[in-house]
Amino acid sequence: MRVYTTIKSLQKALDRLSEEHSIGFVPTMGALHKGHLSLVKSAKNSTDIVVVSIFVNPTQFDREEDLIKYPSTLKRDLELLESQNCDLVFTPSVKEIYASEIISKQFSFDGLDKVMEGEHRQGHFDGVGTIVKHLFEIVKPTLAFFGEKDFQQLQIIKKMVEKEKMPIKIIGIPIYREYDGLAMSSRNIRLSKEYRAAAPFIYKTLQEAKILFGTKNAVEVVEWVEKVFDTHPILDLEYFTIANEMTLLPIQKSNLADAKLVQKYRAFIAIFAGEIRLIDNIALHDPI
Ligand code: PAF
Repeated sequence: MRVYTTIKSLQKALDRLSEEHSIGFVPTMGALHKGHLSLVKSAKNSTDIVVVSIFVNPTQFDREEDLIKYPSTLKRDLELLESQNCDLVFTPSVKEIYASEIISKQFSFDGLDKVMEGEHRQGHFDGVGTIVKHLFEIVKPTLAFFGEKDFQQLQIIKKMVEKEKMPIKIIGIPIYREYDGLAMSSRNIRLSKEYRAAAPFIYKTLQEAKILFGTKNAVEVVEWVEKVFDTHPILDLEYFTIANEMTLLPIQKSNLADAKLVQKYRAFIAIFAGEIRLIDNIALHDPI
């Protein structure tokens, strides 16, 4: 496994390799866990050469504190990637990526960025678009892999690639969960014992909401979820939405009967466990 810190050196290595090999790319912000490793495994299974980037992207953080406290575990990350037979790792500095101006470009994602995470985290998706586009231009992958935990991000990256006409196939990989159902996230290690014990309630609620969605209308399901979090002793609900998987728009009550049959819906949730913000989602169309 080779580790590169400059764009020039990575591109020099990739120029030779990409003539004869397909390139799989997994962009990350480090603090790797089994969820990331499942993306690397998928990339290994479907491409010849796997590149992983580790870069904590400042422009996608709306809360300075989250950026400062973002876990940094580079030595362990590299060991984990080595154990997965990752081929190339890119660990650039902020200066290497942004030079002197740490700012986002503006994107139009056809409204996909106006709801949920986009509504609650100002500028977040312009920051994600900026870094992912830049990394795609550097790595020029054949396939790029993203986790479905950040389902809105996944759809936004697909939209960006389509609009920018980038010849890259975006692959979504199912959420990897802890033994008790909590979606794996680099933020989980920041949870106190008390919040970590409470956090599986998020996925448990999503599963119950999915069952309810079979018999109740979407408004009733949303009200039910809001009510259970109202009485939860320590977890604070930021939003719970049932939205169309493609448009990410909330389900319309008027076309509910048709919608349930024809469209694919997903329930999305964001909660605060103290200062730590956790997100999760569940497909409502798959069997339980
Ligand atoms: O999902 C992430 O870890 C980040 O948003 C990404 C895609 C690596 C961009 O910084």
